[in-house]
Amino acid sequence: MSLLNASASAIKRGLSSSASATPRMLNGRTLAPTVNHASNAGMKILAVLYKGGEAAKQEPRLLGTVENQLGIRSWLESQGHEYIVTDDKEGPNSVFQQHIKDAEVLITTPFHPGYLTRELIDKAKNLKVCVTAGVGSDHIDLDAAVERNIQVLEVTGSNVTSVAEHVMMNILLLVRNFVPAHEMIQRGDWQVSDIARNAFDLEGKVVGTLGAGRIGYRVLERLQPFNPKELLYYDYNPLPADAAAKVGARRVEDLKDFVSQCDIVTVNAPLHEGTKGLINADLLKHFKKGAYLVNTARGAICNTEDVAAALKSGQLNGYAGDVWNVQPAPKDHPWRYMKNPLGGGNGMTPHYSGTTLDAQARYAAGTKQILENYFQGKAQEPANIIVGVGKYESKSYGQR
Ligand code: NAI
Repeated sequence: MSLLNASASAIKRGLSSSASATPRMLNGRTLAPTVNHASNAGMKILAVLYKGGEAAKQEPRLLGTVENQLGIRSWLESQGHEYIVTDDKEGPNSVFQQHIKDAEVLITTPFHPGYLTRELIDKAKNLKVCVTAGVGSDHIDLDAAVERNIQVLEVTGSNVTSVAEHVMMNILLLVRNFVPAHEMIQRGDWQVSDIARNAFDLEGKVVGTLGAGRIGYRVLERLQPFNPKELLYYDYNPLPADAAAKVGARRVEDLKDFVSQCDIVTVNAPLHEGTKGLINADLLKHFKKGAYLVNTARGAICNTEDVAAALKSGQLNGYAGDVWNVQPAPKDHPWRYMKNPLGGGNGMTPHYSGTTLDAQARYAAGTKQILENYFQGKAQEPANIIVGVGKYESKSYGQR
């Protein structure tokens, strides 16, 4: 099974799309309806990527950058298409907001998100397809896309292993109190007790994932060999019994009940109206005192101030992740500097867990495949369709 397809979600939801007016078949699977580029005429393709600077010049495998342009410029231009690539995305005069008015295809990444709001969708008269080079399309107003028959496609699965590995690293660095230990060494100090007083083993702990899709399931798989006391999950889409049994995970249906049982909570659900601000002061009260929280899903799933306060008070012993409610995070963002009462517990990084060089190769190739399908009028891979023609195809963005 390929990396892109090997996932609990695929098992969970099956690969067939929901019923459509004229379902088509590919390799025995039902395909969702797709919008196709009808003519062979050149089109405007707009990509919002981030500036990679010197690193991108030296390292061509940094494909998700303005400099390296997902590696598709010459391929697109050879077919007569216009390819605009920019990192300039804020304000009505930005390159993004100017060119969105007549672009047919928009490519964005979650790492430097071009926020496609309802207002911008209203102005984007020619827009037919949004491609997320990566996973997570919350930066697009999905309801507005449904209404306008704009398809939203992602390279599903392209970086789920990359994120699951990052989650494991985050869990370990918090539980083992790694960051303050490393900082101590770099300061030139050596006082083992100052670190060991707040360092534990992962073995014997209760770990729960909020969201047990492709990433959440991979995290459960990776946790199992650490001999946790128990693995839990909270998800309105239950895992198939065999998948849950394989990793020994128990589903908890009530969120407060779920968090109250966990020593460590990892968040692996998309951002949508049902998850925005879900982890707030009210819910944090139900966490075990001194629990750890790892969020590599989306920053806005957690309330910024409430998490910072919980860490400061010791209600949380640690918070780690790479996603922020605003990206790039401002210099004064509280999550940059927040600490637990012992001066540790912060494992924050810039958003890079899903953009390893391995992941970039996969999401660049996946983006090219999606575009090729669109140009040639071929059906898209069902798992890649978040919003199809006029309706949600994914079951991950809330219960609809
Ligand atoms: P997925 O679609 O395979 O799984 C998401 C799971 O979350 C589904 O099982 C869904 O039912 C569940 N879910 C949705 N709403 C929920 C709720 N209110 N409560 C509990 N469960 C809920 O998605 P995948 O591939 O596992 O990715 C998950 C998210 O991780 C993405 O949407 C994205 O936001 C984030 N991500 C972050 C990356 C990074 O670089 N930090 C890279 C890739 C993804």
